[in-house]
Amino acid sequence: MTQSPPSCIVLQPDPAGLAQAAALLRGGALVAFPTETVYGLGADARNGTAVASIYAAKGRPSFNPLIVHLPDSAAAMDYVIWSETAERLACAFLPGPLSLVLPLRPGHGLSSLVTAGLPTVALRVPENPVAQGLLRAFGGPVAAPSANPSGRISPTTADHVRAGLGNRIEALLDGGACRVGLESTIVGLDGVPTLLRAGGLPIEEIEDCLGAPLLRSAGKTITAPGQMLSHYAPKASLRLNVTSAAEGEVLLGFGPMDCAINLSQSANLLEAAARLFDCLHRLDALDKPIAVAPVPMAGLGLAINDRLRRAAAPR
Ligand code: TXA
Ligand code: MG
Repeated sequence: MTQSPPSCIVLQPDPAGLAQAAALLRGGALVAFPTETVYGLGADARNGTAVASIYAAKGRPSFNPLIVHLPDSAAAMDYVIWSETAERLACAFLPGPLSLVLPLRPGHGLSSLVTAGLPTVALRVPENPVAQGLLRAFGGPVAAPSANPSGRISPTTADHVRAGLGNRIEALLDGGACRVGLESTIVGLDGVPTLLRAGGLPIEEIEDCLGAPLLRSAGKTITAPGQMLSHYAPKASLRLNVTSAAEGEVLLGFGPMDCAINLSQSANLLEAAARLFDCLHRLDALDKPIAVAPVPMAGLGLAINDRLRRAAAPR
């Protein structure tokens, strides 16, 4: 008889659970944890072996650099060369769903696997109280990509993580559903402020804060491989901007309409973002081609449409 691989332990987000999660990280283990965007798959960012096991667990192409999570922006000074623009964005939006890419500081101590050998690193200060509790209990930088197998839909609940990676990680902190539900917006500050990935913080808010438009990285040889076209992919095919589903398709709706699952009955983009990956997980389980209703290209709609386009890309 074949034995199924052992499943991860599920930790409660109380002081004992957080202390155990922090101890596991210190020992080089992988711990999945909630953030307000999506669940992250965390490892000690200074421990090359631990970081390598993230890539192994996700089956991720090794050129993908990871985001380093910190409890506050003051902690960032140990790793990067801070700037006035970084300070301005940090004051306005951190903690929150924004990652900043900044030049590495000499002696930063991060594993070069985290940065995939780049001279820059992406930093993020999550606001989720469980993430905050873990980062403070651990007291060091935590490298964490989204806690899904590479190329699959990002996890926004503990169940998603368990289903995707449960037998490849040591522990999972269960913090319920993620509030935002889309990965962080990534802004490059190594030069002119550049949008590297649309995400949970609307671009308009960042541009208002900076008083200038962000450069768009489209077409540049940006090493943000989350920008690989086929990403976030469910198993079934996806057809976008569909107003009525064809025979055999299931419709993912937006706004008042007749459909299998609705991102937001009231056409609320915040609600749609929070539900997007969960809806895709649920549709994926139906194993039928998916048709998706149009989602407006404003505010969080940019990031939602970006994720949908990637999910629909040929692979
Ligand atoms: O919301 C999030 O950002 C989640 C949670 C867990 O924090 N994390 C996340 O990580 O989405 P991940 O690894 O799935 O996406 C990281 C993105 C990738 O597209 C990567 O290429 C980009 O960040 N990135 C990381 N370091 C970079 C760098 N130095 N320069 C440019 N892009 C970078
Ligand atoms: Mg990801």
